[in-house]
Amino acid sequence: MQLSVIGSGYVGTTVASCFADLGHEVVNVDIDQEIVDSINSGTPPVHEEGLPELVAEHAGADGTGRLRATTDYDAVLDTDVTFLCLPTPQNDDGSIDLSIMEAGATRLGATLAAKPDWHTVIVKSTVVPGSTEDVITPVLAAESEKTAGEGFGVGMNPEFLREGSAVDDFLNPDKVVLGADDDRARRDMRAVFEPLVARADAPVVETDTRTAEMIKYANNAFLAAKISLINDLGNICKELGIDSYEVADAIGLDDRIGEQFLRSGVGWGGSCFPKDVAAIVAAAKREGYDPAVLEAAVEINEGQPERLLSLLADHVDLDGARIAVLGLAFKPGTDDVRNSRAIPVIRGLQERGATVTAYDPVATDNAREYVADVEYADAAATALADADGAVVVTDWDEFAALDEEFDAMAAPVVVDGRRVVERRDGITYEGLTW
Ligand code: UGA
Repeated sequence: MQLSVIGSGYVGTTVASCFADLGHEVVNVDIDQEIVDSINSGTPPVHEEGLPELVAEHAGADGTGRLRATTDYDAVLDTDVTFLCLPTPQNDDGSIDLSIMEAGATRLGATLAAKPDWHTVIVKSTVVPGSTEDVITPVLAAESEKTAGEGFGVGMNPEFLREGSAVDDFLNPDKVVLGADDDRARRDMRAVFEPLVARADAPVVETDTRTAEMIKYANNAFLAAKISLINDLGNICKELGIDSYEVADAIGLDDRIGEQFLRSGVGWGGSCFPKDVAAIVAAAKREGYDPAVLEAAVEINEGQPERLLSLLADHVDLDGARIAVLGLAFKPGTDDVRNSRAIPVIRGLQERGATVTAYDPVATDNAREYVADVEYADAAATALADADGAVVVTDWDEFAALDEEFDAMAAPVVVDGRRVVERRDGITYEGLTW
């Protein structure tokens, strides 16, 4: 099929490249000429494992030609289906800001006015229930001067892609959710996903757009709450002198609980869990419902950096101390620091009068935008040398290999927020929940 994908962030580029790999002809539309040039030269504009190979294979001079990029919205006219993969940032009250989606839908709708045939538009971005039906579809209808369900159809297909493993998550989904409010859009969605479903033998959930939107929020809210619950239990374990990881390993054997997302520690960050939980809480409150468990999940998450700092303060007088912060990315395998737990940890250290030397293998440049007055080291060993204490915030593998580097500290105190450092004699070691 002929597909267009609007937006070339990590979701849009991944979706476009993977569909090209599955045999579709794909054009990726983005307003940024540099991003477009990058894709057309065979290089992805975002860092994602497996993406360089796919973009090189399908775009660029030596590619199969199944993937190209353009800034020209008219390219959608030669396609059957368009995916909207645009950002949905957060407003101050936690609700989502649909303005970029609306602007994209406005341009897309105006472009579709020139298409005499049917066109299906699929919303891929994470949007609160009702956004597709009540906001995006009316914009498309007004701009294209067509009637939804007659001249064009709209679907909603949430993404479950983790940053860092987005390609693998796309090609090996545990489910494909196809939300549509009319039969023709649903048929188009089935046809687009047929090669993926056949290859991955993935279960398909067919539903309406509102339910599809809610499935995405429920998925992320459940996972975030699961981590907060294991953190809550982990905090109890710490108080009682019990290793929460031993407890998590045991309860994870129960299929009803499952072994994944039971790593307790300094909490969840990133561009998805914090934003999505806040948005669904805000949406619930607008309807007059207080989602107590999700609010508690946020509260526990916000408390974990403080618990880490108070464990450190039990061993180090933080006023005037120099503390090494190991890890800035919100999780390993990415340079993304958005909502990283490193941010409240660093600010908390500074509020207590400490100076901070931080190290991250890839996220240093991005971190500069979020925290000021931090000295950045080019290696963990440099950050640790002569430091009065250290905290581990991101579970990068290379931190597990650190050993004698701790002996070079002025005082070898390590508070581990991710259970990566080996407890041993000669180090004053505190695990956050063990
Ligand atoms: C998350 C979801 O896992 C994806 O399914 C979803 O598609 C994506 O959000 C999205 O909405 O776009 P992501 O934010 O990339 O993906 O990262 P995760 O791997 O889920 O980790 C999120 C946070 O939870 C990280 O800070 C990580 O350190 C933390 N975490 C994860 C824990 O503290 N403990 C765990 O056991 C697992």
